[in-house]
Formats: sequence, structure tokens, C-alpha cells
Amino acid sequence: MITRRDFLRSAGGVTVLALSPAGRGVFAAPRSFDGPRLPLFTTLPYIQPGSGSLLREGEESTVVAWQTQVGDADFVVDFGPSEGYGRTAACEHRSRVSGRGGDGEPRINWTATIGGLGPGQEYFYRVHGSGKRLAEGGLSSGLRRRRRISFVAFCDNSYGDISDRAIAYHTYRQNPDFVMNCGDNVYESGTENEYQRYFFPVYNADVAGVRLGAPLLRSVPFYTVVANHDVQDKDPNGHEVADFTRNPDALAYYTAMHLPLNGPDAPTFPTPTMGPAERVAAFRASAGNRFPRMANYSFDYGDAHFLCLDSNRYVDPNDSALQAWMARDLSTTDALWKFVVFHHPPFNVGNEHYEVQHMRVLSPLLEAHGVDIVLSGHEHNYQRSRPLKFKPDSAGRSADVGGKDRRVPGAFTVDRVFDGISNTRPDGVLYIVTGAGGKHLYDPGFTDHPARWTHADDRDVAYVAKMVTDRHSLSVFDIDGPSLTMAQIDEAGQELDRIVVTKAPRRRS
Ligand SMILES: [Fe+2]
Repeated sequence: MITRRDFLRSAGGVTVLALSPAGRGVFAAPRSFDGPRLPLFTTLPYIQPGSGSLLREGEESTVVAWQTQVGDADFVVDFGPSEGYGRTAACEHRSRVSGRGGDGEPRINWTATIGGLGPGQEYFYRVHGSGKRLAEGGLSSGLRRRRRISFVAFCDNSYGDISDRAIAYHTYRQNPDFVMNCGDNVYESGTENEYQRYFFPVYNADVAGVRLGAPLLRSVPFYTVVANHDVQDKDPNGHEVADFTRNPDALAYYTAMHLPLNGPDAPTFPTPTMGPAERVAAFRASAGNRFPRMANYSFDYGDAHFLCLDSNRYVDPNDSALQAWMARDLSTTDALWKFVVFHHPPFNVGNEHYEVQHMRVLSPLLEAHGVDIVLSGHEHNYQRSRPLKFKPDSAGRSADVGGKDRRVPGAFTVDRVFDGISNTRPDGVLYIVTGAGGKHLYDPGFTDHPARWTHADDRDVAYVAKMVTDRHSLSVFDIDGPSLTMAQIDEAGQELDRIVVTKAPRRRS
């Protein structure tokens, strides 16, 4: 029997049939005698989770997406449970621009939504154009409850550097069901042009290699969150903003990604934009209802629920509307495991971003709703907390929207019995910083020096159990019913850390 992972591996290994490099960052389809000359591809086909999120029969979906230069095309996506395909998805397209300066170069973002799926459905897909087979891959909708799942988390990728490629390769070797990229997918400003140069070529490389990257995105869905390097420009007050004067192709997060649209329709603190009205309007037309809604969303996969948030500095997490939505989301899921994902870590003892603590005010809410693990990045290293509970003394500086010092002092209750080996039932939330996904590392001297893993402003409470700062790494999660294993793997494939977390088995209904 072919397992699902074998299926994805084989599909990922043979994907591109007919698109060949035709210059820097562009790919050409073969000439056809019986159809129009197709425009050059600027992003090879990749899959995205789409808006299905609750593992309901008939409501799951997957999006196949790619980008081309401007030109006529007659693209069609075939899909089906075997390489006989059998069904066809209509292709839609939206205009977008790429590149700095002026109005940018025009591009077209193409999508084919494969909807009406049930959980755990596996399909082959094939992109056709001008009568030719152009690309193919495999996809699966989210796995249903009681199915063992694995996923990889990392973030703070870089400029497509060798470190990014090694992380992509070791991610591929894990055969994950999906990837959770916890923000800062590219540097410097989250533009279309940067995604095309640094993101897609690495995580959707044609072949897998430690110095090349891997063919992940064509068969493995990436979830992600909007982070500071998606909104890197500054307004006149020095606050984060997407400036369409400087970057007409800003906010690629909202145009390249296709994630669930079940968050607040109109967030109180949406991603801010500035610049010429016509450029902002063109971006909004390209993003459609994904902007600003896709800043916050949730989804289920196997026995786990994931709540993904925008933690950028323009957000005040004290916002009652946000907290009400979070409470509703976390209290209505029946998933055994609850993850919350956002970019800025509430608890972190590094030197770079220690003060950016505004998300700490959410800790009581997360504890009240039984959240197991919080995944973040921003600090370019690996930090695993002990299970902890946190009671803020007050809102502190958490509401100082735009500020860098967002400190929130409070009282810690740390579970020092849990060790992830023989004591595997945590009393509190595990906060994981997995920000060593490619960018230059912070505090490389902290590895193996637990005496440095505290901070005087937190009264030197030893809430960090493990910290590795001198190498890039990724987090590998395996969830098998009431047992969860997390292993931290470095860019050479060596295991740096491993914990097991268990809980009482789910009662059979
Ligand atoms: Fe960051």
C-alpha cells in the first residue's frame, strides 16, 4: 500500500514536466503549434491550504496558484485521485505588480480552487496550457481527527541564503503533512519581488538538495502568519506601514498566500497602508477579501487546532473584539491539541527583542482555554520554555501601539517537574521560539550556558528550559492521538532537542 507520505514524495519528485528556465527567475512553456504562446512563468505552480478549515465533509479546499508575466493564456487544472485525473478546476486570475520603483512590472496571479473536498482526500493535479502539460503535483486536504499527523515549523527565513536552503531540504526530508512558517517568510519588506527571488525558488526548488532547497510548495501546503518583515516600511511617526510609494508590490502575504478566511472580517488593528491611492486600490483588488481579513485565522488538522494571529506592533492585543473572537474560537474546537501561532514571542530571554512583550497579555486567555503550545519566532534562535502560567501585573506597555518597548511585567508560575522525557504532562503553556529558520542568528554565545537563559526584568525566573542559538534549526512535530513529540533539528540534520508531551486519551464517543 502506498502511504500518504510516499504519495506526496513521489508527486513532489516529478512535478515540473515542461517548464524550463528562460532567464533569471522566469520559466517558459514549450512552444505549441495549436495554441497561444504562453506568457513566461515568474512563480512555478504551488499549493495553498485555501479557506477550508474545519475538516467538514464537502467544505475543504486546496488552491493551486502560480504567477506569470502579462499575456493571454488558456490554463486549465485537471485533478483526480489517480493520474487519470478526471475532474477540471476553472482558473481565475488577478493583476499584480512586482518590483520596486514606478508602478512595478505587471504580473498575473493565477489560481485554481479545488473545492468541495472532504478531509484527508488525496489528489494528483496537473496544470495545462496551450494544449501542453506544464506541471503536476500532489495535494491533500487536511487530515481528519484521530489520524496521526506531522508538521514542521520554522521562520525568519532570509534572502534565499544557503541556510534557508538547508532548512528547506531538512524539512522535505521529514515528509511533513504541512509546514507552519511562523512569519518573516522573506526579507526585507515582504514584497512580491522578494517572494519571487527568495521564497518560491527555495521552498519550491525543482530538486531537493542541502544547498538547493526542496520541492515542497508544490505538494506540501505552507501556513504562515503576517510578520514585521511583511510590513517593514515606516510612516512619518516611525511606525510600521506598507508604503506603496516605496514598494508598489508590498504585502505579498495577502496576494501570494491563500489561507482560511474565518478571522474577524474587519480587524480593529488592520495592516496599515500608505502611498498613492491607485496603487493601494490595485493591491486591494488583487488581494480581494483576503485583505485585511487573512491577518487572523484558525484551522484544524488531525487532532490539532491552530489559531494564527497578527502580532505586529500596530496591533493592540488588549482589543476586546480580538479577544472575544479568540475565546470563541478556542472554546468551540473539540481538538485534543491547541496551538497558537504568532510571530513576536511573549517570553524570550534574548538581547534583540526582549522588550516586544505585548502578546503576554493574552497568556491568561490561552491558559483558560487549554492552549498547549505557542509557536513564535522573531528572535533568530531556538528557545523552549518550561510549561508556564503568567499573570500580568497590568497591561504594562502592551497597548503602546507602534512602540518597540511593549514590556508587560507579571507573575510567573513555572512547572519545573515537566522534563519531556519521564514527566510528560505539562502544567502550563509551552512557548516555543523557532526563529532560526535562515536569517543571521542572535546571541550565538547562549548555547550551553543556562546561566544566561534568564532576564533581570523577569526577576531571573528560569522559564527557558532549552536554548540553541549557534545554528539554524527547524521544529518537527508528530502528533499521534494523546502523544505529541517535538524534535528540534539543525541545518545539518542533527537533533538538538526532543520532548514528548502527553495528555489523557480522548474518550471514545
Ligand atoms: Fe521578525
